[in-house]
Amino acid sequence: MNAPAFLQQYAQQVQTQLENMLRHYRQGIPEPLWDAMRYSLLAGGKRIRPALLLETYRACAGDDDNKAMPAALSLECIHTYSLIQDDLPCMDDDELRRGKATCHCQFDESTALLASDALLTLGFQLLTDAEWNAETKVGLCRRLAIASGGQGMVGGQLLDMLSDDRKITSECEVERIHIHKTGALIRYACEAGALIAGADEYRIDCCARYGKAIGLLFQVTDDILDATMSSDTLGKSAGKDAHQHKATYVSIIGLRRACELADELRDIALAACRSLQGNSDNLEQLAQYIRERQH
Ligand code: IPE
Ligand code: IPE
Ligand code: MG
Ligand code: MG
Ligand code: MG
Repeated sequence: MNAPAFLQQYAQQVQTQLENMLRHYRQGIPEPLWDAMRYSLLAGGKRIRPALLLETYRACAGDDDNKAMPAALSLECIHTYSLIQDDLPCMDDDELRRGKATCHCQFDESTALLASDALLTLGFQLLTDAEWNAETKVGLCRRLAIASGGQGMVGGQLLDMLSDDRKITSECEVERIHIHKTGALIRYACEAGALIAGADEYRIDCCARYGKAIGLLFQVTDDILDATMSSDTLGKSAGKDAHQHKATYVSIIGLRRACELADELRDIALAACRSLQGNSDNLEQLAQYIRERQH
C-alpha cells in the first residue's frame, strides 16, 4: 500500500477512535466547551502525527496498534490545541482551517481559547489513563511536556510571532523557529512510537533522528505549500506567510533552495529508516509523501 492509501486508513481509524474517546470523557464538560472541542478535533486533518507514531511503533516491532493508540490520540489533541491558538486573531488571525471556519470564527474567541486549553490538558490525561506501566507514562508525559511547551512548540510559536516585526535574515534563525514550533512535536511522535514498543536505545535514537528530519521537513513543505498552493487545496488560507511578512524558508532562502533543502531532509530521514533495520517501508513512504505532499 502506498502512503496516501495507508494515511487514509489511519485517518479513518483515528477519527473513529477520537469520537469514542471524546464520548468517554464527555461527562462534566459544559456543552459549549464540548461542542468547540469536538468541532476542531473531528474537523478532519491529515492525521500525520498519529500515523508517524503508529508506524514508528510498528517499525520497532510493536504488534498491537491499540496499545499505542492513546498516545496517537493524545498527540492529535495537543496538535489541534496548537492549531486553534495559531489561528486566533492575536496570532495568525485565520478564518479557514481543515476546510472549515476556524474555531474562534465558528464559536467565539473565549470559547476557542478555552476549548484549546481543554484539549491540551486532555492530551496529558490520555497518557496518564492509558494501560502502560508507570515508567512509560511518566516518560511520555515528560517528553510531551518538553516537546509541546516553552522548550518546544510554544517557544517556537513565540519566536514565529517575533519574526513578524523583527527582521530575520539567516537560515539558521528560521531553522530555530521551525525546529521548535513544528519539529519538536513530530520528533516526539516518532520517539513515542519507539518507546511504547519497548525499543532499545539504538532504535529509539534512529526514530529520533528520523523524527528530527521529518519534523523540519514538514514545516519546510508547509512554507512551500503556503507560497504555491490555493486555499481550496490546502483547506486553510494560502499566501498568508508573505502577507504577514513571516520568516519562512521561502522568504529567507527562496523557493528553489527550500525545495533542495526539503530533498536533503527527506534523504536524512530515509537514511535513519535504513539504520533501523526493521520493517520501515511505510516510514520511508511517509518521508517521500511529506516531501511531495500537495496539501
Ligand atoms: C499544520 O499541520 C500546522 C503545522 C504544524 C505546519 P498539519 O498540516 O498537520 O495540519 P492538519 O492536522 O492536517 O490539519
Ligand atoms: C503553525 O505554523 C505551527 C503550529 C505550532 C500550529 P503555521 O502558522 O505555518 O501553520 P499553518 O500554516 O497556519 O497551518
Ligand atoms: Mg503560525
Ligand atoms: Mg498559521
Ligand atoms: Mg504555514
